[in-house]
Order: sequence, then C-alpha cells, then structure tokens
Amino acid sequence: MELKNKVALIAGGARMGEETACTLARKGCRIVFTYRNSGKNAELAEKKVRSLQCETLLVKADLSCNQDVVRLMDQIRRKFGRLDILVNMASIYEKRELTKLRPEDLENNLGCNLKSAYWLSLEAFRLMKKRGSGRIIHFADWTAQSGRPRYKGYIPYYISKAGILGLTEVLALEFAPRVLVNAIAPGPILPPQGSTAREIKAVIQSTPLRKWGGAEEIAKTVLFLVQTEFITGECVRVDGGRHLY
Ligand SMILES: NC(=O)c1ccc[n+]([C@@H]2O[C@H](COP(=O)([O-])OP(=O)(O)OC[C@H]3O[C@@H](n4cnc5c(N)ncnc54)[C@H](OP(=O)(O)O)[C@@H]3O)[C@@H](O)[C@H]2O)c1
Repeated sequence: MELKNKVALIAGGARMGEETACTLARKGCRIVFTYRNSGKNAELAEKKVRSLQCETLLVKADLSCNQDVVRLMDQIRRKFGRLDILVNMASIYEKRELTKLRPEDLENNLGCNLKSAYWLSLEAFRLMKKRGSGRIIHFADWTAQSGRPRYKGYIPYYISKAGILGLTEVLALEFAPRVLVNAIAPGPILPPQGSTAREIKAVIQSTPLRKWGGAEEIAKTVLFLVQTEFITGECVRVDGGRHLY
C-alpha cells in the first residue's frame, strides 16, 4: 500500500502508539489518535506527530463501547472521508490471583482487549471497503501466540489475547480480498508500569536477544504489515526470541 495521504487510526495506543504514529506520519499518513483517560499524554503525542507536518485528529473514546466506536468513525468520516489503516492497541494488563478474581475482571479484559478490536474492525471495514482496500493490525501477546500462559495471575488477559488470534484469522477471511488483517504479538517491548529494576533485568535474562525491544521494533513491524500485499491472517511475534525459552 502506498502511504501518502492515507488515514491511519491508532486506537488506544499510549506508548507504542506514539512511535507507530510518527513512523506512519513520516511516510505521509494522516493520523487519528484515541485515548480514554490519558488526555494529557495523548495531546503530547498528537503535538509531536503534528510537528512532522501531519494532519491529526484526537478523539476521546471508550473503545469497549460500541456507541463510542460508531461516534469515532463518524468523526473520521466527517474530517477525512476515509480510513485506510486501523491499528488496534487498546489494552489493560492487570494481575489478579485466581482466588481474588471478580466477575468484572473477565468483562473488563474482554471489553478493552478484545471487544474493542472487534467493534473497531467491523466499523472500519465499512469505510475501507468503499475505497477498495485497507489494513487492520491487532495486538496479541507472545504468550498467547506461543500457547504458553507462562505467568500466573493473568487469566482474563490471556483469554482476551488468545481471542485476538481467532479474531485476526476469521476477519482476514471475511474481509478478503480488499482488507488485509494481521496481528503482532509483542514480547518484552516496554516494561509494564510499576515494574521493578529486578523484574526488568529478569526479563532480559530470559530473552535470547538480551534486551527489551523498544517501541521502534513495533513501529517497524506495523509498517511492514501495512505495506504487505500478500500476508493476511498472520500473527508476527516481536519478542526477541522470548518464546524459545
Ligand atoms: N508493552 C509491552 O511490552 C507489551 C507486551 C505484550 C503485549 N503488548 C500489547 O501491545 C499493545 C500496546 O502496548 P503498550 O504497552 O503501548 O500499551 P499501553 O501503554 O498500556 O497503552 C494501552 C492503552 O489502551 C488504552 N485503553 C485501555 N482500555 C481502553 C478502552 N476501553 N477504551 C479506550 N482505550 C483503552 C489506555 O488508554 P488510557 O490510558 O487513555 O485509558 C492505554 O493507554 C497492547 O495491546 C498490549 O497488550 C505490549
């Protein structure tokens, strides 16, 4: 896909989202950002992207809510009249022991991590098919892509990310041949908020490439998947070989 003047929606991506947006903006894309609570950070990211001479739109939305997704797509339609690329990054990642699980934990994880990607994809497809092409990129996790839950205390998160793999395959089939749908399964890219120095080091020791990848590795992979003309229904691990241990 040629990227000049295309419109890319980076949905819910706070940290990796900014780097990905800058990479697509440098290629000539116009960028839509969403945020739910982190308005200040989102404004800073938008400002950075705008400094690359890129047209932007910033929208507050709870992406687990279908009405918010419909409203977001309306705003995109009114401002740009098109949508070419959707990057689904919204996610929560919270530890809760088996014995402390509450009913709402499953709801919240499925809502933020899986339903958001589902609603966004269906609504985005309406806009993309009008132009005859599009790219959708979901975010899974190296654990789900490797069939290895690995860490205890993340049951609803793991289920939601395993669901992303199914969503990627089924939508790749439904949306072909016009819209290509793929996923990225990040490994140690950026440490979760609140990680201790010891935890950060332990991850490096169990990663064959001996480092955290950084958001640039994700941005490079998004660019690759946006530019492909013959890959769909795939999930690419970006994990420094983490799944090999
Ligand atoms: N960081 C890693 O190394 C790593 C590893 C494995 C997988 N991943 C996956 O990669 C993706 C990006 O990761 P990241 O670390 O850049 O994420 P992040 O910084 O945690 O950002 C995720 C964003 O999702 C938004 N969000 C959550 N629920 C939402 C909802 N219902 N509606 C709208 N927005 C919502 C939050 O926005 P607000 O703050 O505005 O509420 C949050 O800022 C995620 O899908 C994550 O699961 C990351």
